[in-house]
Amino acid sequence: MILVTGATGDVGGAVLAGLADKPVAVRAFVGDRADITIKAANIEVVRGDFSSDADMRRALEGVDAAFLATEICPAMVDMQSKFIALAKIGGVRRLVHLSGVGANLQICCARTLRWLGQLEATASSSGMTVTHLRSTFMMQNLLQFAAEIKREGLIAGPFRSGRWTFVDAQDVGAVGAVVLLNEQHDGQTFVVTGSESLSYKAVAERFSVALGKPVRYVDITANEARGKLQAAGHNPVMVEATLELWDACASNLVNVAPTNIVQELTGRPPRSLEDFIAAHRAQFA
Ligand SMILES: NC(=O)c1ccc[n+]([C@@H]2O[C@H](COP(=O)([O-])OP(=O)(O)OC[C@H]3O[C@@H](n4cnc5c(N)ncnc54)[C@H](OP(=O)(O)O)[C@@H]3O)[C@@H](O)[C@H]2O)c1
Repeated sequence: MILVTGATGDVGGAVLAGLADKPVAVRAFVGDRADITIKAANIEVVRGDFSSDADMRRALEGVDAAFLATEICPAMVDMQSKFIALAKIGGVRRLVHLSGVGANLQICCARTLRWLGQLEATASSSGMTVTHLRSTFMMQNLLQFAAEIKREGLIAGPFRSGRWTFVDAQDVGAVGAVVLLNEQHDGQTFVVTGSESLSYKAVAERFSVALGKPVRYVDITANEARGKLQAAGHNPVMVEATLELWDACASNLVNVAPTNIVQELTGRPPRSLEDFIAAHRAQFA
């Protein structure tokens, strides 16, 4: 039995898609708020919350391999650490952990990367065989600019000339599914990226061509970006955590060159930014 957590999320949903109709039993761990979009005869749903040990124990019954993902939030270290401990106690042998590029227990300037580094260390010392998926920035992050792109042809952020190797969450999930299905990949750390590194100026140019209307990138200060994140209703801790992460990338502290992991593990190239824009056109145009 394979357990997929974060199964209603961008990556977890794609993991489920990769496991659907494969000759293996799959259990999706799903909260109360949403439902999975992938339905298949080999996928069962268990409702539960990471805040409940009883829910996690129930979800982990009879599980051999698990995919671990939550949204990024201040509670993620507690939630995922508890899951890792219960998974080990429950007899889980293999864990695929969704992490991120730059995960580092020691890093001082970006708390989200510390959280991921702490979780990598906790998972690695759990006694299970752990595979870390270090994703780069996901194209899905660009959806936060969709309203401004649609209304004003504008992407505004404190990104300077930093280059970002965006990856589609679907490709990260597809890699996760391949690892879960093939033990030969176990125990590795995979840096999962798209096929190119782009500045936000270049991203805006791609949007212009794809949407057939001008889209420009405008650099704003961190404080202006703070105001935008606050206005969008983000929790105050995550506003600061996001600004730190953006600054780390704009400062070239965590950027990586494209890797071949998506092609090597899934057998097809990563989705391009143009593919992503086309798939979400209604939100951008
Ligand atoms: N975005 C990026 O650029 C990026 C880059 C590198 C790494 N990452 C990592 O990717 C992860 C996020 O993955 P994602 O984009 O797939 O997330 P997502 O779309 O935000 O989905 C989060 C998932 O976690 C579940 N979840 C959250 N709290 C829960 C709880 N208390 N109990 C049960 N389920 C809960 C959600 O379920 P409900 O729908 O029921 O709430 C949802 O399925 C983060 O760990 C982040 O560090 C992201």
